[in-house]
Amino acid sequence: MFWLEAHLLTVLITLPTVKRYILRACYLLESMSGDGGRRVAIRLQNLTKYYGKTLAVDHLSFEIYENEIFGFLGPNGAGKTTTLLMLTTVIRPTEGTATVMGYDVRRDADMVRRLIDIAFQEPKLYWVNTPWEILIWHAKVWGYGGREAKRVVRDVMERLGIWESRHKKAFELSGGQRKKVEVAKVLITKPRIAIFDEPTAQIDVAGKHYIWSTIRELRDEGSTIILATNDLYEADVLSERVGIIHRGRLVALGTPEELKDRVPSGDVIEMRVEGELDGQLLSRIRAEAEASKVKYSDGRLKVYLNRGEEFLPRLITMLTSSGIKIHSATVREPSLDDVFFYYTGLSIREAERRGR
Ligand SMILES: Nc1ncnc2c1ncn2[C@@H]1O[C@H](COP(=O)(O)OP(=O)(O)O)[C@@H](O)[C@H]1O
Ligand SMILES: [Mg+2]
Repeated sequence: MFWLEAHLLTVLITLPTVKRYILRACYLLESMSGDGGRRVAIRLQNLTKYYGKTLAVDHLSFEIYENEIFGFLGPNGAGKTTTLLMLTTVIRPTEGTATVMGYDVRRDADMVRRLIDIAFQEPKLYWVNTPWEILIWHAKVWGYGGREAKRVVRDVMERLGIWESRHKKAFELSGGQRKKVEVAKVLITKPRIAIFDEPTAQIDVAGKHYIWSTIRELRDEGSTIILATNDLYEADVLSERVGIIHRGRLVALGTPEELKDRVPSGDVIEMRVEGELDGQLLSRIRAEAEASKVKYSDGRLKVYLNRGEEFLPRLITMLTSSGIKIHSATVREPSLDDVFFYYTGLSIREAERRGR
């Protein structure tokens, strides 16, 4: 009888584990079927968040592959942070869910937390603590022994240039330094999934390049990276694939090159001009350039067309003969901002202004 009860107990204890093994097995089988055989690290399934009546994240469904740097690009208020807080189990989805290495953020939150670490957009530092105390504590929570914790914390702080500030109180640090302490947490723990929410906002150019190279190193060492940013250049140079988010929805997904190739017409003429550019003139430009789009606002004219260099002299003549003064003119390839514009009708900065 005792044997039976003990046996029953063991079965009960192992049941959740069995369930997890089955889920993991399903995940491993399923994840192999990703694009080009790449394994899926994170799968969002209709992930949705309402704050009261505000729809912050609107049924997002896409996949992030293992060991890629995934750029999550969108203007302020697009829903990036809210999505990341759901993936890290800080807040619960209103609808839908996501899996992280096969573990569901709703059902297996404790397992997800062991795999994922995040550098928050707004560092939640304890203001009376010093960076040294904060980072040692973080390292120990993640399983480093005392001596090892000191070694790794010192190493990361030196590399980020915040070692000299290690004994200052958090409130004495500049915004950029606080951000570096936040980024340091993730560099110390080297999690399977590393999330950076606008890691280089408020950081000087040298610091930015430094953080970019450490993020790449982390990827090279095996982490999967999600990088949320509203910085087009950052998304372009760092990401293997970029997901563009606007008003809680995913508007485009692909490598930076694929996304730029989706903008019809190969070139963009961009001009800074002064004078009356009315609808009639814009229509004429569009017709003569055979442009796919012509856009004018705030003294900036953009024409999306083929063979931009050939059309540029004619465009200059058209404008100057209509009394428009030209301050500058460039012909270039589409950028991620043009991709954003193509899908939303706005530049990222305009979207930010309207969001506010
Ligand atoms: N705690 C909150 N309570 C209410 N609304 C929020 C909260 N956090 C964010 N929002 C709103 O949700 C939307 C998405 O915000 P957020 O996820 O922070 O976007 P992003 O990180 O892309 O700037 C915005 O409209 C924002 O005002
Ligand atoms: Mg944000």
